[in-house]
Amino acid sequence: MKRINIAIDGHSSCGKGTLARQLAAALGYKFIDSGAMYRAVTLFVLRANINPLDANAVAEILPQIHVDFVVNAETGRSDVLLNGENVEKEIRTLAVAASVSQVAKISEVRRFLVALQQKMGADKGVVMDGRDIGTVVFPDAELKIFMTATPEVRARRRFEELAAGGADTSYEDVLANLKQRDLIDSSRADSPLTMTGDYKLLDNSNISRDEQYAIAMGWAQHALQ
Ligand code: CDP
Repeated sequence: MKRINIAIDGHSSCGKGTLARQLAAALGYKFIDSGAMYRAVTLFVLRANINPLDANAVAEILPQIHVDFVVNAETGRSDVLLNGENVEKEIRTLAVAASVSQVAKISEVRRFLVALQQKMGADKGVVMDGRDIGTVVFPDAELKIFMTATPEVRARRRFEELAAGGADTSYEDVLANLKQRDLIDSSRADSPLTMTGDYKLLDNSNISRDEQYAIAMGWAQHALQ
């Protein structure tokens, strides 16, 4: 049976992971959260007291970093491992979110993680979400989806997710963080977030998760023909 790679790119906190996970489950594919890998590198940088703006210092410590995924037996989801330590919860904090886009601007970081991501998708059967998956990681992906929603809708959803997990953050802080990340991610020199002509656009400001899934699954089935 034909196997494809599906790239889902788009703005911060618009539900790319949710959709990617649903598609992967339905197709029996692997879901890979590339943002978790940038977040894990950022966590290492912060723990090592390295300034995320110091590109040379960040590039120098990359050989000390090993990023991987492991299936969490309780949730059935993939958790990210940083040098063997499960850091899935720690990478979701606003402290990591505040620095991740600076770290992700650094070309050495991108080369390091893109090489890992390309290995993970070499045999097809992968749904990966991020910012540069359809442009850089898998330019030949058979289906490319660009997701977005209004900043307010995205901030509300992410705030509720963080609050449900017990985080002490405000809606305003979440909104400010995602606007700032969108700006950095879209304007950086290396692999900026851009929607090229081969993407299908999915704006989920006013549609439900089920509707969004039905649309995307239709595209996937078409790509599989
Ligand atoms: O979950 P959310 O959409 O808020 O972000 P994420 O997917 O976890 O990604 C966190 C950050 O990593 C992004 O804001 C980007 O700066 C960076 N990133 C990237 O540069 N390239 C990717 N393929 C994935 C994430």
